[in-house]
Amino acid sequence: MTYQTVSDLDFSLDELGSLPQPTNVVMTSPEHFKIAYVINAHMEGNIGTVDKPKALEDWASLKAAYEACGLSVDVVPGVAGLPDMVFCANQTLPFLSRDGKGKGVVLSSMFAKERAPEVQFFASHFEKEGYVVVSDLADGSTEFEGMGDALWHSGKRLLWGGFGFRTDKSVYDLISERLDVPVLLLTLDDPEFYHLDTCMCILNDETVLIFPGAFKPEGLALIRHFFPVVLEAPEDEARTLFACNAHCPDQKHVLIQKGCEVTNQLLRAQGFTVVELDTSEYLKSGGSVFCMKLMTW
Ligand code: ARG
Repeated sequence: MTYQTVSDLDFSLDELGSLPQPTNVVMTSPEHFKIAYVINAHMEGNIGTVDKPKALEDWASLKAAYEACGLSVDVVPGVAGLPDMVFCANQTLPFLSRDGKGKGVVLSSMFAKERAPEVQFFASHFEKEGYVVVSDLADGSTEFEGMGDALWHSGKRLLWGGFGFRTDKSVYDLISERLDVPVLLLTLDDPEFYHLDTCMCILNDETVLIFPGAFKPEGLALIRHFFPVVLEAPEDEARTLFACNAHCPDQKHVLIQKGCEVTNQLLRAQGFTVVELDTSEYLKSGGSVFCMKLMTW
């Protein structure tokens, strides 16, 4: 089932199955990253502007930050000619079967034709690792950009599904059925917040960080219904520093683009440890921490 308003809801969180926290990090090596085309508002004017040594350094610091949190990082090699492949949140949506034993991924159907060839490399990576690979959406007839738009609720078999720019709303019916989970639908309303992970960061089962201006009132009401603590990033930090593209991999540390001063204060007040990182070369392409990794079980 999918739900778009609070009045549609016919379940409560306690009735849903639990979902263990994912503990493996996947990243894609950045040697082929550059800005070669414009497929989102942030890339405008940035073709050819990436400082490559700096981009490699930023990526290595992010990988080291995950390792410092005690997580192991699997690296899928980047591929020449696929400059956005480094944003490895987008090509798949990992999932776990209800009994917790079967690991799988839903393959994306990329909105941008430039990015479509990236998906096959993740399909073969996950096949090799023994995952069930669901390719129903990958035939190009619809649009779905994986964990850019589909985010697991912390600890529950419940999915948040953003749509409007890079993902088609209708895909969530199939995802809900295949994965046997309810999906909460959120309309995205501002082209600078074109993926759900640019404006919503689920920190733990109580706390979420959002930029409210990216949502419609019914979506905000759903978010407030499920999270007792809703932290709101200020507009400048959300828009220019991708504050909401942060990531909390372990319920404690929040990895975030450096300089989000107000957001960091909100996070610290909730007891999180802020880990500031420089992802500025990737911000030019419309991505930061959350986009550059995929969490799997
Ligand atoms: N340049 C990439 C694109 O437009 C950036 C992707 C960022 N990923 C994300 N999950 N927000 O597709």
